[in-house]
Amino acid sequence: MWNLSLLQILVITLLAAIGVCNGTNKYSRDDFPPTFVFGSGTSAYQVEGAANEDGRTPSIWDTFAHAGYARGATGDVACDQYHKYKEDVQLMADIGLEAYRFSISWSRLIPNGRGPVNPEGLRYYNNLINELVDHGIQPHVALFNYDLPQALEDEYGGWISRKVVKDFIVYADVCFREFGDRVQYWSTVNEPNVLAQGGYDTGIVPPQRCSPPFGRLNCTRGNSTTEPYIAVHHILLAHASTVRLYRKKYQEKQHGFIGLCIYALWYKPFTDSKEDIIATRRAYDFLYGWVLDPLVFGDYPQIMKENAGSRIPAFTKAESKIVKGSFDFIGIIHYLTASIKDNSRSLAEEHRDYTADAAVTIAGNFSLTDFEIPITPWALEGVLDYLKQVYGNPPVYIYENGQRNQRNSSLEDTPRVEYMKAYIGGLLNALRNGSNTRGYFTWSFLDVFELLDGYESGYGLYYVDLDDPNLKRYPKLSSHWYSNFLKGKSAGSEGLNEFDRNPETVSFD
Ligand SMILES: *[C@@H]1O[C@H](CO)[C@@H](O)[C@H](O)[C@H]1NC(C)=O
Ligand SMILES: *[C@@H]1O[C@H](CO)[C@@H](O)[C@H](O)[C@H]1NC(C)=O
Ligand SMILES: *[C@@H]1O[C@H](CO)[C@@H](O)[C@H](O)[C@H]1NC(C)=O
Ligand SMILES: *[C@@H]1O[C@H](CO)[C@@H](O)[C@H](O)[C@H]1NC(C)=O
Ligand SMILES: *[C@@H]1O[C@H](CO)[C@@H](O)[C@H](O)[C@H]1NC(C)=O
Repeated sequence: MWNLSLLQILVITLLAAIGVCNGTNKYSRDDFPPTFVFGSGTSAYQVEGAANEDGRTPSIWDTFAHAGYARGATGDVACDQYHKYKEDVQLMADIGLEAYRFSISWSRLIPNGRGPVNPEGLRYYNNLINELVDHGIQPHVALFNYDLPQALEDEYGGWISRKVVKDFIVYADVCFREFGDRVQYWSTVNEPNVLAQGGYDTGIVPPQRCSPPFGRLNCTRGNSTTEPYIAVHHILLAHASTVRLYRKKYQEKQHGFIGLCIYALWYKPFTDSKEDIIATRRAYDFLYGWVLDPLVFGDYPQIMKENAGSRIPAFTKAESKIVKGSFDFIGIIHYLTASIKDNSRSLAEEHRDYTADAAVTIAGNFSLTDFEIPITPWALEGVLDYLKQVYGNPPVYIYENGQRNQRNSSLEDTPRVEYMKAYIGGLLNALRNGSNTRGYFTWSFLDVFELLDGYESGYGLYYVDLDDPNLKRYPKLSSHWYSNFLKGKSAGSEGLNEFDRNPETVSFD
């Protein structure tokens, strides 16, 4: 899943190139510690399919897709990994993937979100995990990736209600109990900072809540001025209670690690005026600090409390105590850069949403209609340096990073190879400069169902032919490049070489 924060980008502008890219461009797997892991990822609704099989009930994302908001596409079949997991794990093993990040569908494991465990769901995730482990591939599991059981949304409004905390813990407990003997890397909620903006302020992603004049849709339910803050508050409480449960009941015998994943744009001031520099720091507080300040320091950033006033819930002493320190690592989702312009005028408005509270204008140099993402590896270095300086250099997994392209373009995805080569080089620079990053996962393993693009864009190492009833997978050039890198061949700076090409597979039928 990618850059939803683009949706709040108000000005699309081309920024002047900032500095020269001095990224490391010649390196090999051996330059990284042996314990560092390289993987790739997907998420349940985007890849599994079998949406109505074996007892799974709909999530809010099924509802969203079926209402036509993902360009008319749905994840009903997606890549059918539910039935093709063996083949997929074999492909992972073939290219030398060291780890696979996937998410569990809550409503597959516990239909309707609460109540008895679905044995078919249990069987599926056990099979997938066993297959990975048998092939020496480390499973990294996300518990929640946008797909709240629709039944819980209907019953009490999902993340808006505090009731969700208890249901989430019970679900997580089932996952730890059933899978924790083989899964050592858990993340709770995926990018709550973007989920809250998109789902509760602008209303463009599920559950599409918002209120006029802030939302982009016809807002019929929701409250953009308060709900983004309430949703994140409940997510943080659910996360922290889950971590507490894991630590008390499982960690000692399962020896695993647990964290949470944030969406991380890299920001720079639009001008070097004092206002834009302060605004940039504020933008980081609103995007990263919203989640990371409670986790690291036990409270929201001061500036958020000032600007949102009583609309941002306050932590009680007891809550603050369980939230603070509730992570073993931080997951990062990084694709894009943006520049930040002060917009303090918005603070004069009587009714403000999250965006107005942040009082910044975000200008990206990428729009949804461009397919490819600009290659700016220093931005990843900047993100990792920010985590180091502001949050005490926590262990980090880069859980998503990758290049987008038009899905039906070509198996010779040179821009993706260039992107990966540059970002892995940037990552190496950051490691050499003291970053505590422990792993890197490309988004995505296959061309999956994308949140807003449906099947029109793709980020995959493998193309999936949707016209073929067998949904055959075809390796792209990027999978060959990644495989060579993982198998120890050096990633030279001279561009692609013979190694990178595989004429037998690089063609569409
Ligand atoms: C915008 O994209 C171009 C490449 O298309 C890049 O050179 C430039 O540095 C980017 N600016 C930022 C702020 O990322
Ligand atoms: C908004 O409401 C109008 C009028 O009811 C309707 O025609 C339109 O389809 C709605 N748009 C969306 C995105 O729901
Ligand atoms: C949103 O909630 C606030 C605080 O409860 C309230 O003052 C405001 O009227 C609500 N807005 C809408 C659109 O319901
Ligand atoms: C290296 O780390 C130091 C300390 O965090 C930081 O000041 C510096 O900007 C970093 N260098 C790069 C190239 O990121
Ligand atoms: C991809 O190409 C195939 C065959 O040309 C076509 O049937 C399919 O609709 C295309 N898919 C997308 C998402 O454009």
